[in-house]
Amino acid sequence: TAPLTILGIESSCDDTAAALVRHAPGRQPEILSNVVAGQAALHAAYGGVVPEIAARAHVEKLDLCTEEALAVAGVTLAEVDAVAVTAGPGLIGGVLAGTMFARGLAAAADKPLLGINHLAGHALTPRLTDGVDFPYLVLLVSGGHCQFLAVHGPERFERLGGTIDDAPGEAFDKVARLLGLGQPGGPAVEAAARSGTPRIALPRPLLDRAGCDMSFSGLKTAMIRARDAELKDGALPMGAQADLCASFQAAIADVLAEKSDRALAACGFRPAAFAVAGGVAANGTVRGALAEVARRHGTAFVAPPLALCTDNAAMIAWAGIERYRAGHRGDTDLVARPRWPL
Ligand code: KG4
Ligand code: ZN
Repeated sequence: TAPLTILGIESSCDDTAAALVRHAPGRQPEILSNVVAGQAALHAAYGGVVPEIAARAHVEKLDLCTEEALAVAGVTLAEVDAVAVTAGPGLIGGVLAGTMFARGLAAAADKPLLGINHLAGHALTPRLTDGVDFPYLVLLVSGGHCQFLAVHGPERFERLGGTIDDAPGEAFDKVARLLGLGQPGGPAVEAAARSGTPRIALPRPLLDRAGCDMSFSGLKTAMIRARDAELKDGALPMGAQADLCASFQAAIADVLAEKSDRALAACGFRPAAFAVAGGVAANGTVRGALAEVARRHGTAFVAPPLALCTDNAAMIAWAGIERYRAGHRGDTDLVARPRWPL
């Protein structure tokens, strides 16, 4: 059978991205290009992503990113089999910008348009990077999401549990702000934690409750108290900041590891792998703790390369390939959805 080449487009948060992925059945998929234009600098002064600014930047960058993705891949629009675009969930202005752009592109080139759920993109990434077979278990941990998904098929996801309040990435970002570190908070906290020891007692929320649900908003409050307790004459002494970061990171890793252990024990099937996805999967302490849980269960641990853990369009193109192979030849009813549970 002929290989499939799909153009993916992503604009649901603060990254504008375009990518080309090619796949011949029975072969490892090939990422021909993977262009990401981040907006961190645009939002830095506001302490968070400003939806209106994000939407405008997406409108400006979508065609440039797409041109570059095609050029790097050495593929023309006429040569792609379909266009896949994130149709939600996410910031509605960005999702609308992406879907309208992709709709125009697909119509002009007379190609099928596939609407992709952003979370499905993250959840299917282990198949793109490591050829993982169904069924498998994935922990999606990012700035906006935190959930365990049993992935039974390209369009069959079962949510086993998740956060009941903040996502861990959001907690990392808030703690970084609290300690005067830069954004995004995750990498800043991880860097600071390197010279610290996790000596400060912090809660491990919801570990007393059965199941895979998690909570991270209380940790943030506990961090405010812990920081205040460390203050001497109104300032944080040398080392205290690093210890606070190390303690916070250890608490997050502990909660994720313990709940992963339960998800693996309770999922009801023998998973081909335990995989992570999302920006927080970049954290070395978190990765190490999760790898150890997988090892104890005798399950392969899959952590995609960082560029494919954070938001990107290769995962959208790949989800498009899975959707195309599942028989879809265009989502004529495609709508942009701010909320879209899997
Ligand atoms: O998946 P992602 O790029 O975007 C979405 O939220 O969808 O994840 C971004 C989040 C941010 O909250 C960021 O602080 C966090 O992932 N993050 C990290 C690390 N790198 C990124 N958190 C902890 N440790 C890291 N090294
Ligand atoms: Zn994401």
